[in-house]
Amino acid sequence: MARVFCAIDTPDLPAAEKLAASLQGVVDIKLGLEFFAAHGAAGVKKVRAAAGAETKLFLDLKFHDIPNTVAGAVRSAVSTCAPDFLTVHASGGREMMRAAVAAAGATKILAVTVLTSLDADELSAVGQGPDAAAQVLRLAQLAAEAGASGIVCSPREIALLRRELPDNVLLVVPGIRPAGSAAGDQKRIMTPQEAAAAGADYLVIGRPITEAADPVAAARGMRG
Ligand code: C5P
Repeated sequence: MARVFCAIDTPDLPAAEKLAASLQGVVDIKLGLEFFAAHGAAGVKKVRAAAGAETKLFLDLKFHDIPNTVAGAVRSAVSTCAPDFLTVHASGGREMMRAAVAAAGATKILAVTVLTSLDADELSAVGQGPDAAAQVLRLAQLAAEAGASGIVCSPREIALLRRELPDNVLLVVPGIRPAGSAAGDQKRIMTPQEAAAAGADYLVIGRPITEAADPVAAARGMRG
């Protein structure tokens, strides 16, 4: 069974704290750039305190800079927020990812490969296309070589990466929708059960939980 991170994507600190507290013992939580840009590490600490010590924190800051700067950013994030997972862009290169892993201590570094918002045309326009799957695999292999603990990937890429990467590389998968729910802006979707069966280790689920009339019940129903 895959574990679930609820993506708390809001600039509203009290709402984030309330949701995190209610999800305690049900699912883990992910905070990203929208929340971080509004409230910084102090806000993350507050949400973490509301979520309780047993809840895992995924801090999705997608660092991408020169190795020295990324290492410093990772050290700062680890010392202020102590996340369980932290993201970097694999396209920052092996040396950058190695520096991130070395600076992360017990925090697990996850690598983002190709943003799912880039289609073949956009990927070609930035000089990385048109074959998204080939680029995803290339970057995922680089990330694994550099010591990243896992890869953030779309449902469409789970089978390929599970087949090609070492078994101990975690696959963390957004783009999850329960059967019958609104896809929103997600284009490549799977149900929690399908993604878990395909080989996902963690599911990242936002709006189907956060916009539900009863988020806790929705989160319970979402565990793959
Ligand atoms: O609301 P929804 O379930 O679509 O939220 C998915 C979460 O996963 C968001 O926080 C989004 O930023 C993140 N994500 C994604 N696709 C990626 C990487 C991250 O949807 N490729």
